[in-house]
Amino acid sequence: MTDLAIETEGLVKVFGTNRAVDGIDLRVPAGTVYGVLGPNGAGKTTAVKMLATLLRPDGGRARVFGKDVVGDADTVRGRVSLTGQYASVDEDLTGTENLVLLGRLLGHTRAAARDRSAQLLAAFGLADAADRQIKNYSGGMRRRIDIAASILNTPDLLFLDEPTTGLDPRSRNQVWDIVRAVVAQGTTVLLTTQYLDEADQLASRIAVIDHGKVIAEGTKGELKASVGSGSVHVRLRDPEQRPDAERVLQGALKAAVTLEPDPVALTATVNGHGTDLGAAEQAARALAELARAGITVDNFALGQPSLDEVFLALTDRPAETLADGPTDGLGEGTPTDRKGPTA
Ligand SMILES: Nc1ncnc2c1ncn2[C@@H]1O[C@H](COP(=O)(O)OP(=O)(O)OP(=O)(O)O)[C@@H](O)[C@H]1O
Ligand SMILES: [Mg+2]
Repeated sequence: MTDLAIETEGLVKVFGTNRAVDGIDLRVPAGTVYGVLGPNGAGKTTAVKMLATLLRPDGGRARVFGKDVVGDADTVRGRVSLTGQYASVDEDLTGTENLVLLGRLLGHTRAAARDRSAQLLAAFGLADAADRQIKNYSGGMRRRIDIAASILNTPDLLFLDEPTTGLDPRSRNQVWDIVRAVVAQGTTVLLTTQYLDEADQLASRIAVIDHGKVIAEGTKGELKASVGSGSVHVRLRDPEQRPDAERVLQGALKAAVTLEPDPVALTATVNGHGTDLGAAEQAARALAELARAGITVDNFALGQPSLDEVFLALTDRPAETLADGPTDGLGEGTPTDRKGPTA
């Protein structure tokens, strides 16, 4: 029990008639990164806010390091830190001013706050931007300063709510390195994300949530085994060979083949059904069969399963909110969402 950072039973949050979090059971081992994966509106932020004591549950129970998030909220608050989906730093202050101010609010002396600020800015690659106002930071720099702000005092449990949404690959990698460094110091991290590869890179266990419910939970390996190992994307030289290529791939991979809008492109799932070959080996065999059938392949790629593929595998439908955008006016980036609910 003491080695669980988070334990929830039937956790519920209702907004009007919308069960945003609809009975979630989670067990997050201390000292690990736990990934919560789900599309827009799945209930990730709402769940995180309840665990961080910012929002009061309407049902069920949640404990953080064994302490109830409602009954023992003050104790919980002393051990957790939250980096929200939207940066919470002051736009008009510089990087240093923000961190020093927060350090002072946390009770550090001016000197200690300055030291810690300089140390974090350097560690996060922001030393050159230390004296620049946050409003002139790029999106990636903002995410980094926001995480820096949340670990001024090293928390026992850090919530990172979509830390890399909207970042370019290089900035994402920098944030991932920061997360790894934080965990190496003993902090437990609960990370929400819409990206399967992010959960895969960082998390040891993953919960997939949809419409406020956990629809799959397990280690990365378990989740991938249920989803398939990825997909092969193939581009042909000659669009007329596509029907043949479709047949050959279907036979070789024993899986559904999708015809892309691009008339020379096909995508097939590599799911390992009926074979213990790895994804790369299966893909290589399928390509060899295409060559044997006289089909010219211009290029191909072996990709990780996307969140859509995870949802297709788990629910038989795509994560529709990813494709269509928020449907309820309360999705990402709206003023209502930004303000956040009050408990
Ligand atoms: N304060 C609120 N009042 C009313 N409804 C809310 C409120 N906060 C969230 N919701 C609704 O609860 C549901 C879950 O929202 P939540 O923000 O938890 O989703 P999310 O998984 O974090 O999505 P995203 O990936 O877009 O951040 C959505 O339908 C949302 O519109
Ligand atoms: Mg959210």
